Amino acid sequence: MRSINDCYTLSNGVKIPCIGFGTYNAKGGDNLAINRTAIEAGYRYFDTASLYETERVLGQAVRESGIPREEFFIVSKLWIDERGYQEAREAFARTLDRLQMDYLDLYLIHWPRGKEGDCDWKEKDLDTWRALEELYQSGKVRGIGLSNFLPHHTENILKNCTVKPVVDQLEIHPGYTQEAAVRYCFEHDIRVQAWSPLGRSAMLDHPVLKEYAEKYGKTVAQICLRFLLQKGIIPLVKSSAMERMKQNQDIFDFELTAEDMSIINNMPQNTWLGEHPDFAIPKKKSNFAQ
Ligand SMILES: NC(=O)c1ccc[n+]([C@@H]2O[C@H](COP(=O)([O-])OP(=O)(O)OC[C@H]3O[C@@H](n4cnc5c(N)ncnc54)[C@H](OP(=O)(O)O)[C@@H]3O)[C@@H](O)[C@H]2O)c1
Repeated sequence: MRSINDCYTLSNGVKIPCIGFGTYNAKGGDNLAINRTAIEAGYRYFDTASLYETERVLGQAVRESGIPREEFFIVSKLWIDERGYQEAREAFARTLDRLQMDYLDLYLIHWPRGKEGDCDWKEKDLDTWRALEELYQSGKVRGIGLSNFLPHHTENILKNCTVKPVVDQLEIHPGYTQEAAVRYCFEHDIRVQAWSPLGRSAMLDHPVLKEYAEKYGKTVAQICLRFLLQKGIIPLVKSSAMERMKQNQDIFDFELTAEDMSIINNMPQNTWLGEHPDFAIPKKKSNFAQ
């Protein structure tokens, strides 16, 4: 990979850029301006979701850019309460309507299960998946996939599907590498994407990563992104400023050694920032400075 728009080939033959731009919860809230700037900065792969409420402005930014739709890679996701056969079909129609697009590049199930009392999650995921398979077969989406699915959630789909998931989007960054889930995906030819690749900036003060930043003459953010790239994982990174959007693309002119990769890979696993797909776990506030 030599630039953010160089591609991997997914298991169904579709090409996917090696870095995506995240659209969740941008600082300052001016998502239209941020998406416009991200397009100007060169990003073509955009990650959105019905939850984020960024589909409408993303669609607007894409249209107003004057760049053909086919040059973009647009991914969205259905939310927990949009799972189910009919619900998923309707959620997809709403997403296309908000984006004002007639197809998606990928459509994902955002989470495998709800929290309290979601006993029939396996059945619900399969009903949802059936709807996604039909959308895929009708040509309205170029690939279907998963997000926050751990091996036992994915196995339920793989055992019963006719169309295989092409990606799984997981929280991954130094300090939270989800090795078992990542290995499972690689074994099943499911491309892994990393959400919060900078740990929502929590990793930027980590002393070990700061040392590497100095060693390689890069920023900590660039070390985090390069680490993921070298693992064959697609980082979905978000920034609200042109300077950092560009900085996050400037990761193709250096390589972390195998030893440094191993050290970063084996940093203490203590920074779970999002939700757990199965359990409600109290969040830990990390403080590397102490
Ligand atoms: N599937 C899921 O369940 C799920 C969950 C969460 C997120 N996501 C996706 O993943 C995307 C990214 O995750 P995220 O937004 O949580 O976190 P992130 O990309 O790890 O971190 C974003 C934060 O890092 C800062 N930042 C970005 N580049 C930087 C740089 N070069 N130097 C210093 N700071 C930098 C940003 O601040 P500035 O804006 O000031 O640059 C922002 O505060 C989301 O937008 C969303 O698309 C998916």
